[in-house]
Amino acid sequence: MRLAVIGHPIAHSLSPVLHEQWLRASGLFGRYEALDVAEEDLSGLFQAMRDGEWDGFNVTIPYKETVIPYLDELDLAATDAGAVNTVYKRDGKLIGTNTDGAGLVAALSPLTDWSGRVLVIGAGGAARGIISALPTRDVTITNRTMERAERLAERFGIEAKAFVDVDIARYDVIIQTTSVGMDGVHSPQSLNGLRQNTVVCDIIYRPLVTPFLKEAAKKGAIIVNGTAMFVGQGALAFEFWTGVKPDRFVGMKLIESLLE
Ligand code: ATR
Repeated sequence: MRLAVIGHPIAHSLSPVLHEQWLRASGLFGRYEALDVAEEDLSGLFQAMRDGEWDGFNVTIPYKETVIPYLDELDLAATDAGAVNTVYKRDGKLIGTNTDGAGLVAALSPLTDWSGRVLVIGAGGAARGIISALPTRDVTITNRTMERAERLAERFGIEAKAFVDVDIARYDVIIQTTSVGMDGVHSPQSLNGLRQNTVVCDIIYRPLVTPFLKEAAKKGAIIVNGTAMFVGQGALAFEFWTGVKPDRFVGMKLIESLLE
């Protein structure tokens, strides 16, 4: 099994340690590398995959859309997300998928049955992938730029609201997808009125606990940090490549220990 994550820059990727641990735990021989590639190298890399030199790729910034022309097919998850984070081979074809949304949903599913209302904060690429994977349409999207929220709301048949109009008490699951909080200082939205036991998730994992999650925890929420989505997307990618379901819990412990 020869796997890699491709992107630029890639030096700080946590994917190699995660997947190499899962390879070992599954008794599979193989390697998972981090390839810092220039755009002009993409064509050669996908040809090498066709020639059998590679079994699978994760794709990260800035190539999640750039890789699409080199693939034979996109599945529904990649089409809905408008971006590819995983490439695997079936019957000689290179198939692009996106495991980010489904990975997060799988990570949250032990904590909610998705029968309540969901609030998604942010309207970028990450939000789009997550909304497309949610098993409910009882979803509100809120974003600094209302126009982007409205566009996604229309596409997915959900509701859009301005930050100021959001009533936090209405939601059972809240998913924070913006980059606000990476500085360890700011929060995208106040959590006034948050009900206890609401599931509050942030997709940021550096820092491990954002100011948004700290506020949620103080108010009695069940908090889920960004390692859930990171490990969740990785687990589904690993399954596409190997057919083996890896242990997410062990993966999360490993990643959290590296980020602490
Ligand atoms: P990604 O693909 O990671 O989702 P993106 O497409 O650049 O990245 O989207 C970033 C998200 O973070 C957007 O929802 C953006 O809000 P805008 O649509 O209003 O730009 C949000 N965001 C980034 N910086 C922000 C800030 N300082 N305050 C509020 N929202 C912010």
